[in-house]
Amino acid sequence: MHRSNSFVASLSSFIFGSAVAFIHLVPASAQSTSDNVIYLNQAWSQDDRDWYYHFSQGAVVLSYDIFLNLEVADGQELFRSDANSERYGLITQPAGSPYNPDGLPIGISKTVVSMPQWPGEETGEFAGVTCAACHETQLNYKGKHVRIDGGPANTFDMQAYVQALNAAIRATLTDAVKFDRLAAHLGAASPEAKTSLRERFERQAALTYEYATRSIASFWPWGPARIDALSMISNRVTANLPGIPENTSTPIAPVKPPFLWNAPQGLWTQWAAIVQSPLARNLGETMGVYMPMNLRAKTPADGLFESNAAIPELHRVENQLARLAPPSWPEDVFGKIDREKAKSGKALFVEHCAGCHNAWPYRWTEPNKYGKRFVLVGLVPQSYVGTDHTQTEAVRPFAVTGQLSNNLPPELRGKDAVPMAAFKQSIQLAVLERAVAKLKLTPAELLDVNGYREQPQPPAPDRVYKAAPRDGVWATPPFLHNGSVPNLYEMLVPASERSK
Ligand code: HEC
Ligand code: HEC
Repeated sequence: MHRSNSFVASLSSFIFGSAVAFIHLVPASAQSTSDNVIYLNQAWSQDDRDWYYHFSQGAVVLSYDIFLNLEVADGQELFRSDANSERYGLITQPAGSPYNPDGLPIGISKTVVSMPQWPGEETGEFAGVTCAACHETQLNYKGKHVRIDGGPANTFDMQAYVQALNAAIRATLTDAVKFDRLAAHLGAASPEAKTSLRERFERQAALTYEYATRSIASFWPWGPARIDALSMISNRVTANLPGIPENTSTPIAPVKPPFLWNAPQGLWTQWAAIVQSPLARNLGETMGVYMPMNLRAKTPADGLFESNAAIPELHRVENQLARLAPPSWPEDVFGKIDREKAKSGKALFVEHCAGCHNAWPYRWTEPNKYGKRFVLVGLVPQSYVGTDHTQTEAVRPFAVTGQLSNNLPPELRGKDAVPMAAFKQSIQLAVLERAVAKLKLTPAELLDVNGYREQPQPPAPDRVYKAAPRDGVWATPPFLHNGSVPNLYEMLVPASERSK
């Protein structure tokens, strides 16, 4: 298709609101704290936001007191300081909300484990990671900071952040002076107190060491805005936690975290359209992101498949996301919309795009057996879209079952090696079912937590990328699943004319 300049200008007026302003990512160092933050009306209250930024999804990274006082590897600056957090593209946030007493950056949370879920699970207060670390945007433009709730974390370099955390931890454990400063901050003065601090710290350090050196270690850096979430889940569930390093897959397929508005209503989610149930998706994500799980015990009676699953919180966040509106272009910040061009852009969108990208008021599925309808999403073969195919090939095809072999479902039980996908799914399902069983939900509550999706889920389509509604896409650079296109203008020109 030939794309004339007026085609691009009109379409961009419709999608962006403006043909002239193209938002570029601003280096993290140019971000500033809460000064001049502009919130758009996305139908969330300030309390909704504050909770979303910091609620605990059950993740346990490091004891909270250690995290608060940990220094960076090569200096005395605090690891959690605004300057260091911004270095890795986290959005900083002052203390003040009830969910963030210590002014941690958006997406860093406090997880309290008061009761061990299995013999030996560590209790206490921990720093954790939550949805907003990866699913929140700040667009920085001429000194103004426009917050996009539920947008992709397009400055966050998760891989570099975890590796820097690992370096900070190693440096503190090996440099006696650095360790003593930490101990002094935590009031550990006696030799006994210092020894017990060191033991606790060393035990927890192993977690981040595993991530930094295996789970997220790739041949080339992911860079900001790109995370190989699916390999992280696979590695943690099949390799790190059960202690079967042979199952590690190099995470070579980092993707942009998608924006989250309208996702709960969509028939399929994830770039490759692989999940329907919100519980399976959200709990699966936490399995990849520091949620404690017991995959070492011999049998379920000893606590195998126990976890720190935070299902009520995951349910709450899903419901809250279901009422998150796409952001509208703020004309007072980015400039006036040319209404004439926007009108012709809308017609062009209907003609050229809406066949795949379902547009308001959307085409919906027929009601399912619970009477619920979902927004249809386009499922386009990867070979037709022409973007890279690593997503479907990132994890290794077979898994060693190790000591889990006797606790797998009948079709996999007793085998030394099984297909990776089946192995991973069976562990995830066992963890999910055990966590759900403890809640003693009524059938109606269970349906609700599953987003009224029919179980078992229908098989996912093979090797496709999803074309979902893109309302609010103007606010979500960079573009495509792999984040390879820097701005919307370049999305609308032929691939050969894009920056590499
Ligand atoms: C470590 C980063 C990270 C965290 C934390 C995280 N996500 Fe994601 N999320 C991703 C990435 C990356 C993808 C895309 C994965 C893919 O499709 O390959 C994704 C996909 C999704 C999708 C699919 C969206 C769509 O349009 O297909 C939803 C919904 C979602 N996440 C919700 C959540 C929720 C809710 C939480 C917290 C409970 C959460 N995520 C935590 C990185 C993260
Ligand atoms: C044949 C189906 C199809 C048509 C027609 C189509 N798209 Fe897409 N579009 C897709 C798919 C599939 C993706 C995701 C591909 C990927 O990420 O690898 C996508 C991705 C995008 C993205 C990036 C989304 C993001 O969140 O990063 C934008 C923007 C976009 N399309 C806009 C358009 C516009 C504007 C048109 C009309 C000129 C259009 N598309 C026509 C299938 C289509």
